Amino acid sequence: MEPVKIGLLGLGTVGGGTVTVLTRNAREIARRAGRDIEIAHAAAREYKREGISGLDQIGRIGDDAFAVVDDPEIQIIIELIGGYSPALELVMRAIANGKHVVTANKALIARHGNTIFAAARERGVMVGFEAAVAGGIPIIKAVREGLAANHIEWVAGIINGTGNFILTEMRDKGRSFADCLAEAQARGYAEADPTFDVEGIDAAHKLTILASLAFGIPLQFERCYTEGISRIESQDVAYAGELGYRIKHLGIARRNADGIELRVHPTLIPHRRLIANVDGVMNAVLVKGDAVGPTLYYGAGAGSLPTASSVVADVVDVVRAFTTDPNNRVPHLAFQPDELADTPILTMDQVETAYYLRLTALDEPGVMARIASILGEQGISIEAIQQKAPGEGETHVPLVMLTQRVREGQMNQAIARIEALASVQGSVMRIRVETLAG
Ligand code: HSE
Repeated sequence: MEPVKIGLLGLGTVGGGTVTVLTRNAREIARRAGRDIEIAHAAAREYKREGISGLDQIGRIGDDAFAVVDDPEIQIIIELIGGYSPALELVMRAIANGKHVVTANKALIARHGNTIFAAARERGVMVGFEAAVAGGIPIIKAVREGLAANHIEWVAGIINGTGNFILTEMRDKGRSFADCLAEAQARGYAEADPTFDVEGIDAAHKLTILASLAFGIPLQFERCYTEGISRIESQDVAYAGELGYRIKHLGIARRNADGIELRVHPTLIPHRRLIANVDGVMNAVLVKGDAVGPTLYYGAGAGSLPTASSVVADVVDVVRAFTTDPNNRVPHLAFQPDELADTPILTMDQVETAYYLRLTALDEPGVMARIASILGEQGISIEAIQQKAPGEGETHVPLVMLTQRVREGQMNQAIARIEALASVQGSVMRIRVETLAG
């Protein structure tokens, strides 16, 4: 089958990430989508060639975005230019030309989404905007599909990575507001106009979209109350901490008896709440449904590859719609049935983790050394070791160890040898350690 042909508008932070993801994971994506996906035509006024891997796979790169939108070969337009104009004109023309659209443009959707969706319905094309809210977190899919059974009561989120990065750095490192903002810009998190981040406009765009999905209301960006973080001082961050709170820049949409609250502002949250511990550029959205209760979605809210992850997911959705059986549009196991692989499941012996070990050993010179040498002979490196105090009149003491990562098979052999020592009492308590670092 012919590859699906994509037209890409914009080769900036997210555009570059999209090229990288689509080319790097091309095979895996095709196994899910049911067709190969090719960026046939891209337009960008300027871009940094060296920062983008996979550029050589693009059929044609020019500087005329309207030429891409009018290219008869193109089936899906990915709009990653941002801003209102010419993004709106390009998206409307793509729809008029019968092309499906995927966009990361939250400003465009929050302000002009009602018009764009009406045109798309009329023309029978799809518009995907997963990347517009909370970067790489699939929050739109979760709210629109996963929580479809619920009466949603409220949504509260940290939905601007730049603002969260600034607040976190100010709190942890005592850095200045301006210094943190400059770093967020250098890392490609911030909007072209960073006041959108720090004054809450970007979060308001995203909250507007979330509120419409949660409560079934038209997009009403102009009704969103917006207050930024630029007036927060280090002393407020410190005083809040002393009171047991963290300051987070939250977007809150809540349904009450009189209507819907739609507001973005700095907020004190008890420090023990999970969302109060979402730091740096990470985003998190809490959604409270009447059936499911509170649910929390966490991940990178900005940046090249995380945002591209959502863009490409939307592209896969569109491609599935025109390649697969309409009754089984999303394959049961995510990949197309004839693309399932026979990659083996590993036995536990082959699995590698670090370990916590606790054993009871005779409190005598040389015992610790013997145990350590067994671990060494099995190729196991010790991260930490502690001998606990013996109980009253006890001849044996608890030894607690952390090891570095090792295959379970090797650890099993080591444990069997340690348990066979006359100086070790009973069996070794073994708990696997996973740092789950990002
Ligand atoms: N400027 C945005 C942020 C980018 O910092 O979250 C992602 O929308």
